[in-house]
Amino acid sequence: MEHDVRYSHKPVMVQSIDSLMEPGNESCVFVDATLGEGGYAHYFLEKYPQITYIGVDADFSILEKARQRLESFGGRVRLYNQWFTDFFSRYPHLDLPSPDCVLFDLGISRYHYEKSGRGFAFSVDERLDMRLNPDQKISAYDIINTFPEDKIADILIQYGEEKRFGRRIAWKIVQAREEKPINSTFELVKVINSAMPPSDRYKKRIHPATRCFQALRIAVNNELNNLETSLEYAFAVLKPDGRMGVVSYHSLEDRIVKRFFREKNKTCTCPENWPICQCKGQREVNLLTRKPVMADEGEISANPSSRSARLRVVRKLAKEEIE
Ligand SMILES: C[S@@+](CC[C@H](N)C(=O)[O-])C[C@H]1O[C@@H](n2cnc3c(N)ncnc32)[C@H](O)[C@@H]1O
Repeated sequence: MEHDVRYSHKPVMVQSIDSLMEPGNESCVFVDATLGEGGYAHYFLEKYPQITYIGVDADFSILEKARQRLESFGGRVRLYNQWFTDFFSRYPHLDLPSPDCVLFDLGISRYHYEKSGRGFAFSVDERLDMRLNPDQKISAYDIINTFPEDKIADILIQYGEEKRFGRRIAWKIVQAREEKPINSTFELVKVINSAMPPSDRYKKRIHPATRCFQALRIAVNNELNNLETSLEYAFAVLKPDGRMGVVSYHSLEDRIVKRFFREKNKTCTCPENWPICQCKGQREVNLLTRKPVMADEGEISANPSSRSARLRVVRKLAKEEIE
């Protein structure tokens, strides 16, 4: 797929998503729960003239970019500026057909790092914010400047897996904000650096602030809880024989997806020590990816952010396959 340079984000593993989700069937309804700048949308709408594309994004500004990009496809595209949890929970009332495909491409877009001005990147000096939607009550600024020290440490450890330095960074943050509020990304990076011995700052060649920035973004946008609830809602509205795919970018997300698909693939959910199955559990999916699919070396060298992407896809079994 040729990258259109007017857009920041290069969608990952497009060919794998295409071949595993098979959106090419007649009158396919494709729900893209994380539309972003519409990279997948543009590709699929152009390739499959019969597809109807429903795009969802919590961020109004990026949704508007996608709207302009997809304008020429007219009535084949419907867009919703909503959190995907809200969207899927209300889906039955939206007068939309059940989708044949549901795709989640988690996290944020390159657009957010490079153009949103909301402090997602530690390499650009911007006000600490990180909200995908300006109506959200709590921003990264609020967490850093008002949350108690132990709560900040928990966020850094739980969502950033900053196990070694999480508590020390939280302590340094609280010390620094007693002098004056921590307003910007660079001010926060300075505090994070001050909590780490120089020899530890660039271990494994990742920037010392990487984990903390990930943690704050996840906390501000409630990403993991949103994902857990949405998978169930989305699966409920998916058409029998439909496909659901998720691209995740870190182990916390991937673990949730893996567990969800594994549960749907289980025949029995009784405790292991029960001699006889009481639940009459039925497998609900076919796992189309036993292991996550990853980008190949060619894609990784053209688009380094695809290195961490993991794709998992299931097919929802039709009723007659279950009974
Ligand atoms: C990785 S980007 C998607 C990029 C897209 N596939 C493309 O080709 O341009 C993820 C997008 O999902 C949106 N997003 C993240 N969490 C969301 C949520 N809970 N509900 C709705 N949109 C969300 C972000 O605003 C971002 O635009």
